Amino acid sequence: MSQTPSSSASASAEQRRILVTSALPYANGSIHLGHLLEHIQTDIWTRFQRLRGHEIYSVCADDAHGTPVMLKAQELGITPEEMVEKTRAEHHQDLQDFFVEYDNYYVTHSPENKAICEEIYTRLDDAGYISKRVINQLYDPQKEMFLPDRFVKGTCPSCGAEDQNGDSCDVCGATYSPTEVKNPRSVVSGATPVLKESEHFFFDLPKFEEMLKGWIRSGALQDEMANKLQEWFEEGLQQWDISRDAPYFGFEIPGTTNKYFYVWVDAPVGYMASFKNYCDSHNLDFDAFWKAGSDTELYHFIGKDITYFHCLFWPAMLEGAGYRKPTGVNIHGFVTVNGAKMSKSRGTFIKGRTFLEHLNPEYLRYYFAAKLGDGVSDIDLNFTDFAQKVNSDLVGKVVNIASRCAGFITKRFDGRLSETVLDEALLQQFHDAAERIAQLYESRKYHQAVREIMTLADKANQFIDANAPWVTIKEEGKEQFTHDVCSLGINMFRILVTYLKPILPVLAQKAESFLNDELNWQSSQEVLKDHAINKFKPMMQRVEMEKIDKMIEASKESLEAAAPVTPAKDTPLSKDPVSDTISFEEFAKVDLRVARIANAEHVEGADKLLRLELDLGGEKRQVFAGIKSAYDPASLIGKHTVMVANLAPRKMRFGLSEGMVLAAGPGGKNLYIMEPHEGAEPGMRVK
Ligand code: MSP
Ligand code: ZN
Repeated sequence: MSQTPSSSASASAEQRRILVTSALPYANGSIHLGHLLEHIQTDIWTRFQRLRGHEIYSVCADDAHGTPVMLKAQELGITPEEMVEKTRAEHHQDLQDFFVEYDNYYVTHSPENKAICEEIYTRLDDAGYISKRVINQLYDPQKEMFLPDRFVKGTCPSCGAEDQNGDSCDVCGATYSPTEVKNPRSVVSGATPVLKESEHFFFDLPKFEEMLKGWIRSGALQDEMANKLQEWFEEGLQQWDISRDAPYFGFEIPGTTNKYFYVWVDAPVGYMASFKNYCDSHNLDFDAFWKAGSDTELYHFIGKDITYFHCLFWPAMLEGAGYRKPTGVNIHGFVTVNGAKMSKSRGTFIKGRTFLEHLNPEYLRYYFAAKLGDGVSDIDLNFTDFAQKVNSDLVGKVVNIASRCAGFITKRFDGRLSETVLDEALLQQFHDAAERIAQLYESRKYHQAVREIMTLADKANQFIDANAPWVTIKEEGKEQFTHDVCSLGINMFRILVTYLKPILPVLAQKAESFLNDELNWQSSQEVLKDHAINKFKPMMQRVEMEKIDKMIEASKESLEAAAPVTPAKDTPLSKDPVSDTISFEEFAKVDLRVARIANAEHVEGADKLLRLELDLGGEKRQVFAGIKSAYDPASLIGKHTVMVANLAPRKMRFGLSEGMVLAAGPGGKNLYIMEPHEGAEPGMRVK
């Protein structure tokens, strides 16, 4: 599906005016590889459009508001403003060090954002889209604040697992309201929450149903996401609660006291505010990009977890307040590392900064590009594959072309390329790929663009191999031939680098100074003849596996370290849009193993759990299993069972649980652990 209004075939086509954004990272955590997937995806697209000569702006910001940020600042003993400014600067630096360049990297706690939020709210209110209603909510009487779902913990009402989140259970997967949790306690103070009334403000989302149905089918969304949204319509749109009570770090709602905009109201408005801030200092017309009916293009790049906010609330708010809607919302999947969710204990929850301390950021840009398509499936960063791809494609193929040809040009041909093209047909293939590759970038099929480029790189290397300039250079009468071979090699290298420039800006810069040339998309249609080049210097080192190991080691956080008091996210309305079915690949990530129950015992103070010691054929694991109601521990010892061996370890009140055993049944006495047939040995993979 194409979302481009004018995807004309030629680079010299009419100039487009485009604004792009990436989701605003929360100001209470570091930039990690998951964030970087998104920023790199956006940055490649932006650089590509710019290389093609279009007028494009990209903005981002830190998402400053909400309860988690407020509490984290309190924990640190500083004001939220101080904390947010420090984090903003850190985030921006991290991104720049990955060569992700925004025209403006701002913060949502800004005067521009306050003004636009108030304006939008007033317009929505005037148009009758805001209503008020009293609701009951859990309240921390000690801390004197209402508690977002994630700040309530307790016993799962469904399976009885202890220490579960206020909105969902990690053990049985049930979702519920925090008021249903048994033995609830406030994560903030430990106090038992009480129900308390408060008046809340609601945005009338259902009024926008028809408009939204049209918009999601306008080409603004990937087909799979449009289908997913269809399901949300079938479930029925709800009034959206947009207010929060003090204490809250945010903007006060005009005409009220102690009522604040929920962070998800002012966060997307932060896109506008960041751009407004940029326009004001760059003499650019803000309205041309935002007023209803604008002929500019607007794209948001986001992860699938925040689809609801960007594809329902946000377009409805814009429409209701008289602004334009996005041309497209480009949704990506989640980063997994070595086949599993990023994990602090395994060292695969890798911060951008840690990566930078060990590896070249362009490696990551290239690897993500080589994996990114236009869909929402997850992207696995497999480090063996990562090292192999970077080494063989970039070092072994692309840079190698230049290093094989450059020395002869410098030493034997006075540093000048020849005047003749030895193989016109071959060079023509390089020129001709331009539009195909451009269309792939345009439609965010970067992985296919990379494949096209590497196929060309193979052709260039084959040409050099076949003509062996290192042999002909020693043969009499072959001077011109050798000069022509090397010159064509350099020209092919130059076109490849042009195509890779959106992905690898620094490699491109090094190549430009070597080539004594500046590359834009049009360069792919040109040949350098009788042109002086500079001495070749190495452009990229190979990835060393040891550095990867060190990076993972440096990322390992001891689980004994104090668990954060504040959960990372404040997104109670987020839904995972693709969780209904799983692909075979996803299923294959679950590492099921036969385990022998080496020991089983009661846990003091736990009414549901048994402590199991599982033997995986050498490796021992401790697992807390909620099967006490059904088993006498002594009866389990020596039995074989099946466990999930790659479940991230969980710190429980009684100790670390390093996996999960499989059991069937409704619970209570009727709970039956899985037992494999005779012959299955501990450690065997269950397939
Ligand atoms: N602050 C909100 C966004 C507000 S936008 C108006 C938020 N912040 S976040 O820091 O949690 O996430 C920022 C972006 O990073 C989101 O698009 C999210 O999907 C993306 N990712 C966070 N973790 C990710 C992975 N592990 N993998 C890929 N993207 C992920 O949500
Ligand atoms: Zn449960």
